[in-house]
Amino acid sequence: MGNFLAGKVVAVTGAGRGIGRAVALGAAAEGARVVVNDYGVSMDGASPASEVASSVVKEIEAAGGEAVAVADDISTMAGGQRVVDAAVSSYGRVDGVVCVAGILRERMLFNMSEEEWDAVVATHLKGTFTVFRAASAVMRKQRAGTLIGFTSGNHQGSVSQANYSAAKGGIISLVRSAALGLNKYGVTANAVAPVARTRMSANVPVSLAEIGEPEDVAALVVYLLSERAQGITGQVYTIAGPKIAVWAQPRELRAVYASGGWTPETIAEFLPGSVGVDPMPMLSQVGEMERAARDGDRPNA
Ligand SMILES: NC(=O)c1ccc[n+]([C@@H]2O[C@H](COP(=O)([O-])OP(=O)(O)OC[C@H]3O[C@@H](n4cnc5c(N)ncnc54)[C@H](O)[C@@H]3O)[C@@H](O)[C@H]2O)c1
Repeated sequence: MGNFLAGKVVAVTGAGRGIGRAVALGAAAEGARVVVNDYGVSMDGASPASEVASSVVKEIEAAGGEAVAVADDISTMAGGQRVVDAAVSSYGRVDGVVCVAGILRERMLFNMSEEEWDAVVATHLKGTFTVFRAASAVMRKQRAGTLIGFTSGNHQGSVSQANYSAAKGGIISLVRSAALGLNKYGVTANAVAPVARTRMSANVPVSLAEIGEPEDVAALVVYLLSERAQGITGQVYTIAGPKIAVWAQPRELRAVYASGGWTPETIAEFLPGSVGVDPMPMLSQVGEMERAARDGDRPNA
């Protein structure tokens, strides 16, 4: 065992499978005591099973680490609170929370049901809020802590997963808000956009040119949770196998000012040649993404 996280208490949601499991095992291997949360659901969020969280606890214990299982649904306020309460009641504090839990309900926007929208936004975006909310109240008093949200390159837009893309964009704004609001308490917040081989990546209709393993993602998360990452806040990192990238902060690209106020006519006259547009890189891939979504093609499976 290493000691990157010696003495720390870390809670990980969606820690029963895929990336979350690798994060929980990786954090425990570096000395953290871990809350392993997983609702144990299928890819679309159905059929909860509590053994999924407890089996990862057993793996951690077998390797000589310490962990507790919480099989709650983090899309509820009570579920998010219980994840944080488990850390505090078992180990006396919470130094890091990592919100990895997620589901997919793929559908073209014009066919998407309210239920498909709500379930995905509730799991990803609200499920990050519920845990950040509970953890930040403790971390504010501790005057230390790290919040980590999970986003996706898909926050740029998605042909057949508007619900997922919107939730992932929301997580970035939530992370930046947490970074701003908790900075004075010594609490940091960052987002990770992973690309790794899991059951989820096997189910997306796009070919992922750069892809790695859940353990690659775990290494970045362990670093971000550690003292070595002190001061890093408000960032979005991609990790895809050998690649780590940082995303730009959103910023205005070009501006133009009117001297006497705007009318639709003056805007039509000035906008195209002055502020113009910022071309959308993903538009060039739309044809292939539509075809893959239509044909059920899963190139990473
Ligand atoms: N795998 C990738 O390449 C990739 C790419 C971009 C983003 N992501 C994001 O990374 C995260 C992990 O993805 P993964 O590929 O490991 O998926 P996965 O399906 O292997 O694991 C997700 C886990 O979350 C759990 N979960 C779902 N709903 C829950 C809830 N309400 N409460 C508690 N647990 C719940 C599931 O039971 C499952 O064990 C997700 O947020 C996903 O959107 C993954």
